[in-house]
Amino acid sequence: MKKPSCSNGYFWLINMFMLCFAVKSQLTTDFYESSCPNLLKIVRKEVRNALMNEMRMGASLLRLHFHDCFVNGCDGSVLLDGGADSEKFALPNVNSLRGFDVIDTIKTSVENACNGTVSCADILAIAARDSVVLIGGPFWRVLLGRRDGSISNGSLANSALPSPFDSLDVIVSKFNDVGLNLSDAVSLSGSHTIGRARCALFSNRLFNFSGTGAPDSTLDTDMLSDLQKLCPQNGDGNTTSVLDRNSQDLFDNHYFQNLLVGKGLLSSDQILFSSDEANSTTKPLVQIYSKNTTLFFQDFVNSMIRMGNINPKTGSNGEIRKNCRVTNP
Ligand code: HEM
Ligand SMILES: *[C@@H]1O[C@H](CO)[C@@H](O)[C@H](O)[C@H]1NC(C)=O
Ligand SMILES: *[C@@H]1O[C@H](CO)[C@@H](O)[C@H](O)[C@H]1NC(C)=O
Ligand SMILES: *[C@@H]1O[C@H](CO)[C@@H](O)[C@H](O)[C@H]1NC(C)=O
Ligand SMILES: *[C@@H]1O[C@H](CO)[C@@H](O)[C@H](O)[C@H]1NC(C)=O
Ligand SMILES: *[C@@H]1O[C@H](CO)[C@@H](O)[C@H](O)[C@H]1NC(C)=O
Repeated sequence: MKKPSCSNGYFWLINMFMLCFAVKSQLTTDFYESSCPNLLKIVRKEVRNALMNEMRMGASLLRLHFHDCFVNGCDGSVLLDGGADSEKFALPNVNSLRGFDVIDTIKTSVENACNGTVSCADILAIAARDSVVLIGGPFWRVLLGRRDGSISNGSLANSALPSPFDSLDVIVSKFNDVGLNLSDAVSLSGSHTIGRARCALFSNRLFNFSGTGAPDSTLDTDMLSDLQKLCPQNGDGNTTSVLDRNSQDLFDNHYFQNLLVGKGLLSSDQILFSSDEANSTTKPLVQIYSKNTTLFFQDFVNSMIRMGNINPKTGSNGEIRKNCRVTNP
């Protein structure tokens, strides 16, 4: 049976008049139910394959969705290949983002089942959810119906994405800029319960922190000496450490437990608990999540849905890209 489309003629006219109105304004969980009924099964299978090949890929896919949504909304723009001023080459992304080839593989399988129907932005949102589920995190029904954008804005990526060297105020204001609040910043930071980070992004904490001549005093001393060995001064900044030393491939609340004992890896992690600004803002949330996985999972899910809702292109905006790396000819 062919899927009814918004341009199908008289028979659908009345139905579609109503439906197209409803669909244009917001995302829905059943958006592809008739146009691509096996979509969720296909993505799940491909994400499972990718994780069997490398567990870390779950973390990388989750981060891709985050870096997509914070720059021009969740429109697949981070997936576009481009020159020096594209998002892929922006500082937070270059030599850092991973998983583009996995997205290509998923997209090919989805195109084989229902070509020209599912956006790259939606594939990314589903792949992020599946990654979380397959490594032990919570399930949620992903809102769908995003369309793909055509602009990859590297300078916007540089200014909009939070940096591990930002102060807490700056991090929270970058979340505010995309319509998310302080609670979202804390719950979503819980994503750092999986995956890895490069020495270059935390080695400033290890020897001469902010010109003090000493390491960051909020960093646990055992963890400090391990990291000093892993990331010696003038060593290879691309060497990586796990973000959660307890369980790098498990989505749990250890991230928050770590912060309570000075074992956050990035400065932007530890300040959620240890900075002066944290006392009346983020610290109480960190404490609650460290004791209550159920609440962390609930809040994380709601924040993921809010993040996935950042400025989606719907209706006649954007396009359904055929190849996630390039806009349609
Ligand atoms: C609060 C502000 C945030 C900052 C400053 C930040 C910063 C970073 C940095 C510096 C890395 C390591 C990158 C590298 O080594 O090249 C990283 C990794 C990661 N981030 Fe964040 N992040 C933040 C929020 C988030 C959010 C909201 C999510 C997801 C919703 C997320 C998910 C991840 C994941 C899963 C990894 C590991 C990726 C992998 O192993 O490939 N982060 N983050
Ligand atoms: C889907 O594939 C068919 C046959 O390969 C092609 O004719 C058609 O134009 C494609 N549709 C879209 C929307 O890409
Ligand atoms: C990219 O984002 C900057 C803001 O950082 C904005 O000034 C510029 O107009 C954007 N460029 C495009 C092509 O949208
Ligand atoms: C953030 O927004 C959510 C959803 O609207 C709300 O439940 C939560 O209380 C807000 N947090 C703060 C600190 O305002
Ligand atoms: C630490 O850095 C500061 C400023 O960059 C510098 O003046 C100082 O000499 C350094 N201290 C040590 C012990 O390297
Ligand atoms: C990491 O590796 C990339 C690509 O090989 C290289 O261009 C970059 O300079 C390295 N970065 C650091 C911090 O060593």
